[in-house]
Parts: sequence; C-alpha cells; structure tokens
Amino acid sequence: MKLRTAPTGAVPRLCLDILDQPHTLIAGATGSGKSVLINDLIYTALFSPPCEKQFILIDPKRVELRSYRKLPHTLIYASEPADMVRAINKAVDIMERRYKRMTRRGEKQSSEAHIYIIVDEFADLMTTLKRQTVPALCRLAQLGRAANIHLILATQRPTKDIVTGQIKVNIDARVALRCPTAQDSRNIINTTGAEQLPRHGFCYYLTPDTMQPVKVAVPRIPENEINKLIQYRR
Ligand SMILES: Nc1ncnc2c1ncn2[C@@H]1O[C@H](COP(=O)(O)OP(=O)(O)O)[C@@H](O)[C@H]1O
Ligand SMILES: [Mg+2]
Repeated sequence: MKLRTAPTGAVPRLCLDILDQPHTLIAGATGSGKSVLINDLIYTALFSPPCEKQFILIDPKRVELRSYRKLPHTLIYASEPADMVRAINKAVDIMERRYKRMTRRGEKQSSEAHIYIIVDEFADLMTTLKRQTVPALCRLAQLGRAANIHLILATQRPTKDIVTGQIKVNIDARVALRCPTAQDSRNIINTTGAEQLPRHGFCYYLTPDTMQPVKVAVPRIPENEINKLIQYRR
C-alpha cells in the first residue's frame, strides 16, 4: 500500500495575511483572478486541520467552489438560493452561540475554529437574494471578528448597490485585482490605480495595518497541487 504524505507546497504570504484579517473584500473585472485567489486562499487554509479552519462556501455560480464540498473543513456548501440563505443564517446562529459561550467563560475572543464564509461571486448573490441576506451579512460583518467568523466576499462589481455601506465599513481588508474602471478601483481601495494593473497576476492589497494599498503578486497554485491537497484532506 502506498502511504500518503501531506503535500508540502509553499503557501503565498498574501493568503496567510488575508486569512488573518477579520473580513476581506476582493474585487476585480471578470477574468482578473478572483476565483484564482479564492482557490489560493482555500488551499492555504487546508494546511490547517478542520478543527482550526472551516468553510461555509457560497457558490452562486455553482462551479467555482464545488470541488471543496466534500472536505471535512466544509461545514456547508450552498449554491441553490434557499440553501445560500440558510447557510448565511446558520453562520449567524453559530456566531450567536459562540458569543454565549464566550460570555459564560469570560472570553473577549473566541478560541474556537476560524470559519471562513466565502462568497464567489457576491454580485450574483446580491442581485437575487439581497433582501434575504443583507441583514444577516451585516451582523456577521459587525460581530464576526470576536467569534472568529470571517467574511471573504469576491465581486466583479464593488459598487454601492452591491456592497452596501453597512457591510463595507466593517470589511477593512481589501484586494483590488484589475478593475474595469478607475471608479471601481476607488470603491475598493479608496484610490485609482487598480484599473491599470496587468490583466491578472497582481493586486493592490489594503489593510488597516498598511494604510496604503500595496502592490502584491498573486500566484496561481497549480490545479494538481490543489487536488493533491484535497485528496489528502478527504
Ligand atoms: N494569478 C494568476 N496567475 C496566472 N493566471 C491567472 C491568474 N489569475 C487569473 N489567471 C488566469 O485568468 C483566468 C480567469 O481567472 P478567474 O480567477 O477565473 O477570474 P475571475 O474569477 O476574476 O473572473 C484563469 O483561468 C487563469 O487562466
Ligand atoms: Mg470567478
């Protein structure tokens, strides 16, 4: 029998940093690499066991995150409208139960697993389920941090109608891949520039720590590396 060993591929620093952020908004034109970055992030998280890092995957496009649905890290995979609403409400439930436990134990920060709620693509979710999901998403954005519940939202349209003010003010880590317009760039990193990035492979990354957007390479983890890790984790 062939023994399986854990893959040991290097993980991108950018991804480790994003996974440490309370919440992250990723914006960029179609084909700019939002899904590539999300795959990188999941790959990076998969180096941790499911008792440390877990996912709630919201996949309105129905194909982008499918291959991760059977992982032990995946609490919920949702691609149908009713399932997506249920998944987001479930995340609020989990958060509230964590707050109760934290109060009981006198903790300010949860010591439970980090749960990443990953939405690829957020504009698709908003155009169909805005009314049903925005209140819950606002609560998660406001209160998730202390409960180790993170939002990672990818969108091709970082406009006010898609990323509402109340969600946006609470998501202070921003990744701008190549944006269609200078205004889109301003919406995400508060300054123009992302419209001039190469078609893919680079982003501007803004966090409260850096205060200014920093240009960072976005590596693409080869699909076979990702698949090897999925097989191992399953
Ligand atoms: N960082 C990258 N390095 C190399 N190729 C990339 C990178 N990001 C994107 N690409 C190329 O662009 C294509 C579209 O990327 P994708 O992540 O699907 O874009 P989006 O989700 O923003 O529409 C990929 O299939 C790949 O060929
Ligand atoms: Mg995509």
